[in-house]
Amino acid sequence: MRVIAGTNNKHKMEEFEKILQPFNVELIPLSEIGDFEDIEETGKTFEENARIKALAFAKFAASALKNGIPPVIADDSGLEVDALGGRPGIYSARYAENNDARIRKVLQEMTGVNNRTARFVCAIAIAAPSGIIAQVRGEVEGKIGFAPKGSAGFGYDPIFYPDGYDLTFAELGSEIKNGISHRSRALRKAGESLGIYFATGKSP
Ligand code: IMP
Repeated sequence: MRVIAGTNNKHKMEEFEKILQPFNVELIPLSEIGDFEDIEETGKTFEENARIKALAFAKFAASALKNGIPPVIADDSGLEVDALGGRPGIYSARYAENNDARIRKVLQEMTGVNNRTARFVCAIAIAAPSGIIAQVRGEVEGKIGFAPKGSAGFGYDPIFYPDGYDLTFAELGSEIKNGISHRSRALRKAGESLGIYFATGKSP
């Protein structure tokens, strides 16, 4: 199953590849289709933003390839912190100017806060140029730490302790992260949806 990966984020791309491999998905990087700038995420939910990205990339693929256009898989993801009313949420990538600053901002807002519960959310949309084929969601519950720990992964991984572990995602490394993460949960559902779509030509 040939599928275009609708992301320019190399960490996400690695996770997409590892997790979709058992589903016999051959991922085509967006960069192989052409130069496509990040699109504006104007949605109010993770789902809406995933649909916006997947459809925009599918239309771009259609204009570049003309025919034999593989479906596009795109995600929108982020960290929801309960004590912050769900922030940074859909604004996770834009919460401050760089990654260190984003982590510092969350930790600073959590100063003196006892309730550290949080979750990573990943919404995935699969699209053809004519419309959305499937939409799925994955979540992983956990807690926000008090200082960044570990160097694997990306984004907020150094301050997120998934439930059941005393280490952050950045300390646990990709193998354990990919077994339990929001993105892996959503991607496994997406792999199943793609199997149905390729077998039947219909949306699951
Ligand atoms: P987007 O989905 O590319 O719009 O951005 C999601 C943002 O949420 C990323 O830039 C990260 O800051 C954060 N994020 C999403 N998934 C993860 C993850 O697996 N680990 C750490 N941070 C994440």
